[in-house]
Amino acid sequence: MRKKIEIDNLPNHIAIIMDGNGRWAKKRGLPRSAGHRQGAKVVQDIAIACDKIGLAYLTVYAFSTENWKRPQKEINSLMSLIREFLEDTEKKFDKENIRIQTIGRTDRLDSDIIKGIKRTVQKNKHKTGLTFTLAIDYGSRDEIIHATKKIIDNNISSEKITEDLISSYLFTNQLPDPDLVIRPSGEQRLSNFLMWQASYAELWFSNILWPDFKMKHLKEAIKVYNQRDRRYGGVK
Ligand code: FPP
Repeated sequence: MRKKIEIDNLPNHIAIIMDGNGRWAKKRGLPRSAGHRQGAKVVQDIAIACDKIGLAYLTVYAFSTENWKRPQKEINSLMSLIREFLEDTEKKFDKENIRIQTIGRTDRLDSDIIKGIKRTVQKNKHKTGLTFTLAIDYGSRDEIIHATKKIIDNNISSEKITEDLISSYLFTNQLPDPDLVIRPSGEQRLSNFLMWQASYAELWFSNILWPDFKMKHLKEAIKVYNQRDRRYGGVK
């Protein structure tokens, strides 16, 4: 059962590019991994809060297909955090009504992470509140290549290619398109995140660094979103 909605006119689906962990750590003289650790804590809190306000879908960019270019030490610390996050979430989300899923490739992830994902997804799949999606080894261009290969392998003829058909081959085929994409940390780009799906999303940027992100920032983004005039290329 969905809980009481405190905020009017919630978007259906919010997607977040969790940026600024490294800068947050640097400002404090800490290793980058400390920023990622704090960022992982924040995302748990935000997911729980989003469920409480009655948001239907939250999708977060946890590791991109380009993040493999980072130093091996940082990749290892991000992978360890994902591992811990999955374990910790199992306990922390036990009493929450949050359904968890992931999008992205799985062939480059360690087998224990894949097992962790399967376990967490399975454990929470009966839940009816927020659908919380972690994008892990996800990139839109890679996703489109993956979808194109599958379409060709399935011998789909060119006249059958429609927007809906392509959407149905993307990792996000169970998700509605995002209405609002949030990127903190001052950068103003999509960085290969949900490029197809966010075609008509509203974008909200803020200078706040992800580890400092609070519910008040999300509420501010929703307020701005509600002042936007979404025309989807048409007129009103
Ligand atoms: C960008 O910050 C963030 C990432 C590369 C990944 C986001 C990861 C987390 C929030 C932690 C792990 C998440 C989960 C769900 C386990 P950056 O390193 O690019 O920051 P910078 O631009 O300040 O250097």
